[in-house]
Amino acid sequence: MAERVKIAVFISGTGTNLAALLYASRLEGCPYEIALVASNITDAGGLELARAEGIATFTHSHRGHSREEHDAAMEAAVEDAGAQLIVLAGYMRILSDAFVARWQGRILNIHPSLLPKYKGLDTFARAIEAGDSHAGSSVHIVTPELDAGEVLAQIRVAILPGDTPETLAERVKHAEHQLYPRALTDFVARGTDPDALLDKVRGIALALPETHERESHGSPGFRVGTEKSGKYFAHFLNQHHGSQHIAVLVKTDGMDELINLVETQPETYFKPAYYGASGWVGLILNREGVDWNHVGEWLGRSWRSVAPQRITKLLDAADSF
Ligand code: GRF
Repeated sequence: MAERVKIAVFISGTGTNLAALLYASRLEGCPYEIALVASNITDAGGLELARAEGIATFTHSHRGHSREEHDAAMEAAVEDAGAQLIVLAGYMRILSDAFVARWQGRILNIHPSLLPKYKGLDTFARAIEAGDSHAGSSVHIVTPELDAGEVLAQIRVAILPGDTPETLAERVKHAEHQLYPRALTDFVARGTDPDALLDKVRGIALALPETHERESHGSPGFRVGTEKSGKYFAHFLNQHHGSQHIAVLVKTDGMDELINLVETQPETYFKPAYYGASGWVGLILNREGVDWNHVGEWLGRSWRSVAPQRITKLLDAADSF
């Protein structure tokens, strides 16, 4: 089996979601393993469980520390443990923007509501009060804005007549324990799934003006301009010619830039077979921590370098306002 993705779980409370994630990870075929459980509460219930199960723990009280100091200590522990993803499971602290930016796309949270409904606290009371038929829980990517990142998965839980916030919370937890391990497993797998990666590239490429998709040498390609005279600005390659990479190829300014990128950032870029000779660089997508904004910037730049002037002129004019 391929190496498992190491995760760090942050908790503040009882850690029942931690328990669910942990026991799921002990089942055959689970693509992640828990390398660290970290908490801001030195006697959080979940820590004892983690220790008993032979998992490294780290605690650092937030009291008397600035948010940045506290986050830095937690981050150092995550790095020491070699974790590639941070999974929040009832972690009752807001992370600093700088921390979230450094771990962009690599922090997950579970929030007990059907987002975008009921961000923040008291979600069960608010759902009951509103007369909703269902409450539920959402797993989402953490962004600087609270409970606002991409929702990866949700589970609905019927609200029963006579439910109180407490009885509802208990049922939602049962549902969460099914949801979180599954959502995390899918998330980990999506980073190496060629179809999921192609979908993502396609979404960005076809959102650029006047673009369409056309196969080129058996691989998906993206062109700008008309069907007849359009030009390729991106190619998607899945482990092409013996390479391990799943990648999108974009146009550099030429060989000097290409060589420089490949030599200085070999974890991000590579020189593809055939295409490399004409200045296309490969952006590696099947790795942890791909920065999709960065991929988007490259696609935009590559698009601009081949787009017909009649389109780019209009855009330049719009930019100058
Ligand atoms: C969960 O209900 C989760 O949705 C919220 O915090 C609670 C954590 O519970 N973010 P536990 O500590 O995992 O039992």
